[in-house]
Amino acid sequence: MSSRASAGSGAAVSSKHCRMSDHRVKRPLATPGIGDLISRRLARREVLSGSLLAAVGALAVPMAGLGSRAARAAVVRPPTAERFTFEEIEHGVDETHHVAPGYSAEVLIRWGDPVVPGAPPFDPLNQSAEAQEKQFGYNNDFVGYLGLPFGSGNPERGLLCVNHEYTNPGVMFAKRRGRPSRARFAIPTSARVEIEMAAHGGSIIEIEKQAGRWRVVPDSPFNRRITARSTPIEISGPAAGDPRLRTSADPSGRRVIGTIANCAGGMTPWGTYLMAEEHFDSYFSGTLETHPEARNFERYDIPRSRYAWARYHKRFDINAEPNEANRFGWIVEVDPLAPRSTPKKRTALGRFKNEGAESTVSRDGRVVVYQGDDGPFEYLYRFVTEGRFDPNDRAANRDLLDRGTLSVARFHEDGSLVWLPLEFGEEPLTPANDFASQADVLIEARRAADLLGATPMDRPEDVEPNPVTGKVYVMLTSNVERAAEQIDGPNPRDRNLFGHILELTPPGGDHTAPVFGWEVLVRCGDPGSAEADAAWNPSISANGWFAGPDNCAIDGQGRLWIASDQGGGWVESGTADGLWALETEGPLRGMGRMFFRVPIGAELCGPRFTPDDRTLFVAVQHVAVSGVEDNPAFGRRARPSRTRPAAGPTSTSACRHGPPWWPSPRTTAERSGPERLPPIVISTLASDFDSGSGSQVGSARSIGADRRRGGAEP
Ligand code: FEO
Ligand code: CA
Ligand code: CA
Repeated sequence: MSSRASAGSGAAVSSKHCRMSDHRVKRPLATPGIGDLISRRLARREVLSGSLLAAVGALAVPMAGLGSRAARAAVVRPPTAERFTFEEIEHGVDETHHVAPGYSAEVLIRWGDPVVPGAPPFDPLNQSAEAQEKQFGYNNDFVGYLGLPFGSGNPERGLLCVNHEYTNPGVMFAKRRGRPSRARFAIPTSARVEIEMAAHGGSIIEIEKQAGRWRVVPDSPFNRRITARSTPIEISGPAAGDPRLRTSADPSGRRVIGTIANCAGGMTPWGTYLMAEEHFDSYFSGTLETHPEARNFERYDIPRSRYAWARYHKRFDINAEPNEANRFGWIVEVDPLAPRSTPKKRTALGRFKNEGAESTVSRDGRVVVYQGDDGPFEYLYRFVTEGRFDPNDRAANRDLLDRGTLSVARFHEDGSLVWLPLEFGEEPLTPANDFASQADVLIEARRAADLLGATPMDRPEDVEPNPVTGKVYVMLTSNVERAAEQIDGPNPRDRNLFGHILELTPPGGDHTAPVFGWEVLVRCGDPGSAEADAAWNPSISANGWFAGPDNCAIDGQGRLWIASDQGGGWVESGTADGLWALETEGPLRGMGRMFFRVPIGAELCGPRFTPDDRTLFVAVQHVAVSGVEDNPAFGRRARPSRTRPAAGPTSTSACRHGPPWWPSPRTTAERSGPERLPPIVISTLASDFDSGSGSQVGSARSIGADRRRGGAEP
């Protein structure tokens, strides 16, 4: 778990919810030496730094907590060429969601809602694995959209592809009577494990817009659940069939049941859905002592033993089944248009903790996939297919992801980024370092990247190529373990609490090029706090800054939107997580604007625009979980706890009232049963740009105007 702390007080406050990634540092930095050059690089390059000094002066107003609105309002925003014109919402923390004026936000689907035909109505007190296998899961990190029919770009009917990343047993399983108790959930039963496994994976649902409102199409032939419990998945690519992937249940090393820890992901140009297996270490138990894969597993934090699955499924016991953990940590390709097709784990893209896998087509037709490995001091990767994308023959692209070159990024102080291929046989990826094949290199991609001298980053999350500008954006969410002597150009702060965003520039827009350029776009955190050492455009408002950049999206105009995951950091920042628009071009480059805010203790995921930019889908994860224990006004957590701190730094009276997302804390702290559970836990929201009043700057008409103006910008 990553602990966050106040930059000012140094007091640890909470865990970031992408919580399975902790900050154990098991090795030295692979590329020492560039840290001492960063000051020169920043001084030469970063316009924002110069601006920052002015910004800190201008914004030196009290900004902690929710007060000082008048002081914040004093910030002057000069009139300039804004590409976003919606009226931003304010930072804050309460029990519900908020969207910019002129927009609407509606719940589209929730945990337990039916997905496939025959799904029973959701009954949180009588769950079963069989029911959950037909129902929507929760903790949705990824949202993809594919207009129907394929190739139409239809913005009003399509398939929504959504990941179900993990489960919180304490939130998921209600106690019928009495006060919540963590002990109640400490020993999962076999039935609970089965339900958990069924709740992992993902869903494909057909949705359509009727009379201005989105709805799920019931019993669509496309509707599908993919689970950790029962979905057969093929293993393909260079590592398929390798002895290190063989198990007693699968002597072929080519077939595995299930996919787990699917964080973000991607949609390919040929309309397939990439599920990214991230913190798969959490599901394995056992000991590494005398284990044949000890070095490999240790590099991936295996076994983490966060779930009790090994108790009932021996394949999750690394001592009973020593190779099973090598069959997770991959990118899984699913064809949403073929609901009976077998998903494939594409080993050519490497094995690590994949946050996402967004792609683009290079000018020569090869497909480029960008991947972040979400761990402190982990790396940024790029995969380039050997074959070329055929826009006229969908089937011809079916196995494009099985052959190509995986590379890892090494950043240099002169503003260049060199992509280092992970190729067996090229030094140092040779038998001298215990690599006997390309399969070995891919299975131990992290160790291969260590040896190549890749640059350790501050937890790479989403990486998104911008199809309009040709640039690439990298979310680096935080890394509190980075020491002062480990600062370098692309990771410019020690004890990085708030994260930052990098902008990569492929030369001439060529995403296959061996060398890119890079810039720090923003250093996140409160610009009014000297300790935060944040860097934004000086025109930023008091609500325009954020922390913990995690998921992101590019809209049809090539504008960047950032979803945040502070974990419990909202206690210190004074604002819940949300979605911010971020200017990347022109004089306002580096200015954020808050569009959407999630309920207390949640993080925001997705986001995904329809092709016409009129609807934005977002996923709200783990409402009332992260940091809620530090908020006495809210009064309880979504999961039972033995301890509840007597006081916390943040208090909001709004949480005393019965919210739409969650029952009143007072009621639920003393009562139990379904009302303290699901309707609220996780939802995917559709924010309909079409339903604004038209008179507000954030209305649908303004979005259209934004698009036209955006098209004129470089
Ligand atoms: Fe599952 Fe990297 O967040
Ligand atoms: Ca996250
Ligand atoms: Ca994420």
